[in-house]
Formats: sequence, C-alpha cells, structure tokens
Amino acid sequence: MNNYKIAPSILSADFSIIGEEVKNLDLAGADLIHIDVMDGVFVPNITFGPKFVKDIRKYTDKTFDTHLMIVHPENFVERFAEAGSDIITVHQEACGDNLNNVLKMIKNLGKKCGAVISPDTPASKLFSAIDLCDMVLIMSVYPGFGGQKFIPDVLPKAEEIANYSAKINKKIDIEIDGGINIETIKSAKSAGVNVFVAGNTVFKAEDRRLMIETLRNA
Ligand code: DX5
Ligand code: ZN
Repeated sequence: MNNYKIAPSILSADFSIIGEEVKNLDLAGADLIHIDVMDGVFVPNITFGPKFVKDIRKYTDKTFDTHLMIVHPENFVERFAEAGSDIITVHQEACGDNLNNVLKMIKNLGKKCGAVISPDTPASKLFSAIDLCDMVLIMSVYPGFGGQKFIPDVLPKAEEIANYSAKINKKIDIEIDGGINIETIKSAKSAGVNVFVAGNTVFKAEDRRLMIETLRNA
C-alpha cells in the first residue's frame, strides 16, 4: 500500500444523478472527492455553489476537496466550510496579495487549506504561503473544463514546491489537477506529487474501482 491519493473530480459526473455518482466514487475507493467550483468569471465555465456541496455531503464521509475557481474566494469560504468541505483550495491568481489572509480564514474555520497555481503562475508565488498550507495544488491544464490535455511543463513546479517545503521543514500534500491518466500520473509521481485529481479518466472507465486502484499503483 503506497501513500498516493486519488481524488476523482465530480466535474465529470452526471449532475442529474449526483448523489449516486458520489456514493459510487466512495464505494470505488476514492481517497478524496474533488469538487470543482466555477463562477464564470475566474474561469469561463459555471458549476455549482455551497448548497450543492451540502446536498452531496449526505452521500459519503470521504474528504471533500473543494477547489474554488472563483474571484473573491474570501466571500465564500465560510459557506463552503459550513456546507461540509474538509479542504478548501483557493487560487493565487484570484487572491493576489490577500492569499495568506484567505488561507488563514480557512484555517480559522477549522478546515484544511491549500493554494492553487494555474499553468502560467510560477511556483515562487506560493513560497511565502507554504507555511500556512496543508496542500498545494498545481494545475496541469488551464482551469475551467475537464477532459483537457496534460501540460508536462508544469512538473518542475511540483519539484520546486517539494524542495521548498522540505527546506522550511513543512509537511504538505502536493496535488495535481488536469489531464491525469495512467501515463501522465507516472511523471507527476516522479516530480513529487502525492494527490492526483482525475475526472475523465475515472468517469470514463468501465470499472471505476479498478481505475482508481490502477492510478494509485501506476
Ligand atoms: C479543471 C478542474 C479539474 C477537472 C479535471 O478546471 O479543476 O478538476 O475536473 O478533469 P480531467 O481529469 O478530466 O482533466
Ligand atoms: Zn479541480
């Protein structure tokens, strides 16, 4: 048994039967449930808000990994915390100089917090926040849609984050999101990533349990 964690993204689920889909991921052995919140402003797509998260909370006890792709996340972290999120991640690009304050807000709500960088943002933008983070999320596609192609150029950023956190003696999870499949996950593991979001790869699999297991052991 390794320590790699698979976080299927419900963005690829059928929202008309979302309860069943979430339950199914739980039974299929998901480590975390990745929840993509999009506002149509920070990203060119819209998904759902806190009520949706509260409603699906009934279907599993697994860790809810809520990825906020929204502007002004500080206005919403409390409601996502109340709705049952366990980890809340916010984009550096959406928070700017306010990033550390937003991370502290999440911590003060009793939740785990994480900072996210899109493909064009350098890892160094997060260095001053790492001490506050439980997790750093590196986007391996431009945020907004599932089913995109993995961008391998982001991988050195995972190594930079891993090295920096080791240097300051801070244990964090490093998560990657976008285009993860049986092949791309191997290079992410080599770069020091330990949490893997997978949307299409899990949802398109005939046997989701087998796919989650295969990704974990790839
Ligand atoms: C993209 C989302 C991802 C997406 C990943 O903005 O943050 O979580 O669901 O989907 P796949 O694994 O299909 O690339
Ligand atoms: Zn995501």
